[in-house]
Amino acid sequence: MDLMALPKAELHVHLEGTLEPDMLLALAGKNQVRVPYANREEVLAAYRFGSLDAFLKLYYAGMAVLRTVEDFTTLTEAYFDKVAGQGVKHAELFFDPQAHQEKGLGFVQILEGIEEGCRRAKVRHGISSLLIPCILRHLDPEAALRLVDEMLPHKDRFVAVGLDSSEQGRPPSLFAKAFQRVRDAGLRTVAHAGEEGPPEYIRQAIDLLGVSRIDHGVRILEDSELTKRVARAEIPLTVCPVCNVRLGVFGSLERHNLPRLIEAGLAVTLHSDDPAYIQFYIGDNYVACAQRLGIQEGALRTIARRSFTASFLPEAERERLSDLVP
Ligand code: HPA
Ligand code: ZN
Repeated sequence: MDLMALPKAELHVHLEGTLEPDMLLALAGKNQVRVPYANREEVLAAYRFGSLDAFLKLYYAGMAVLRTVEDFTTLTEAYFDKVAGQGVKHAELFFDPQAHQEKGLGFVQILEGIEEGCRRAKVRHGISSLLIPCILRHLDPEAALRLVDEMLPHKDRFVAVGLDSSEQGRPPSLFAKAFQRVRDAGLRTVAHAGEEGPPEYIRQAIDLLGVSRIDHGVRILEDSELTKRVARAEIPLTVCPVCNVRLGVFGSLERHNLPRLIEAGLAVTLHSDDPAYIQFYIGDNYVACAQRLGIQEGALRTIARRSFTASFLPEAERERLSDLVP
């Protein structure tokens, strides 16, 4: 089976994490932003992080080159051009509005830039997309409330709100009020939990933030009761195996717990997270899981189908797309 061509949905990708070294350098030149890299090799050499926080430092520094509405369109368009060749039929894009505020870019400008890239992807490749702005959890809960209030007047332009950035010491409970406002407005919620943080953060994401999916969630197996509950409730876990390894969550891909997550009956899906920083896009993750982790074709088909059914598309569209998986 051609795992690259296998139809799939990308449900865990950070738009700013798709900033390829070449584009980072081109935008730095165009926008006259100083970056400590002379060429592609130097950028890639810098991308040797061993923890989430080490990665995030580079990630926030890199996105400083995104300065205009058009930059967001260029970034979005390039992402879709890339994954059109990896079987992606639908994508739900995370982005971090708060990370662009100090450059003077408001939420609506960022939204406009990304939406134009999404429209072009639909025309050029037939790929559908939905947007999920995320709250940065290293910032204080008051900032989260301000962001939510800025975003909600535009709530028909995104489908959910997420929670990302540094996990350790930043429990989901801190953001319960902000997420309550999101849900009161009729939107869905998702949260990064249980990548570096404990299973308790997964529990809080479900009970206090009302999430429809857990992003990562790989540490769930440390809590067997929670594992059973999440499996029974079929709450999807959007797992990003290669990124987990690059952030030091597992020592190697061969030691990733994906086979045990599947065995426990959890509704896992496979994704890329920050593909430009690890040089592994979603199709590459499927291939690596088959080749190096021994995940069987049948399981990968199930995962691909589930990526559509776990999406936030209308039900008829979820069904239509999942039926594309052979
Ligand atoms: N984890 C948390 N926050 C993030 C990530 C991630 O992998 N990528 C971008 N923001
Ligand atoms: Zn992520």
